[in-house]
Amino acid sequence: MTDPLGAVVVPAEELRERILGLGKEITADYAERPPLLVGVLKGAFMFMSDLARAIDLPVEFDFMAVSSYGSATRTSGVVRIIKDLDLDLTDRHVLIVEDIVDSGLTLAYLRRLLAARQPASLEICALLVKDGLQKSDLDIKYVGFQIPPDFVVGYGLDVGERYRNLPDVVEYLGPPE
Ligand code: IMP
Repeated sequence: MTDPLGAVVVPAEELRERILGLGKEITADYAERPPLLVGVLKGAFMFMSDLARAIDLPVEFDFMAVSSYGSATRTSGVVRIIKDLDLDLTDRHVLIVEDIVDSGLTLAYLRRLLAARQPASLEICALLVKDGLQKSDLDIKYVGFQIPPDFVVGYGLDVGERYRNLPDVVEYLGPPE
């Protein structure tokens, strides 16, 4: 059976270069206040790992797991916390590291939730932002790539837990699993 994969949307080499650039920006912006990186599992694990190595500061890590889709390819609008953070955010410079922003519902929810924990600052770094679908003004400080509003997989992104290990970000043409 052939995989229902379409065109490459962002090739591995472009991901690598852009992430190095984001790392430089973050290193300059946070020089006096090393950030706590908060990765949103599972999709952001690969981006988080490459981004952290591109930041030349003593960063710390924590992870949250949320689910907004179940296994379908459409957002349900309901965000569930599957794993909360281990660390206290009080007075920390928190940088949320997200894989992809579609409707923006997940990030809007996360930002509200984490802002209530009294961090010294709270910013967002999203690798991929889909064109024109965000319902609320999200104020994302660092964006890797703006992409068309198609469903994509690879570089951490899945459909039904598959394709996360593809090195490129690729369009997914199949039915929701
Ligand atoms: P939003 O709440 O609609 O912005 O959706 C954000 C979450 O949905 C992301 O963190 C992903 O887990 C998932 N998601 C959205 N678009 C895609 C996609 O094209 N491929 C894989 N996962 C996606």
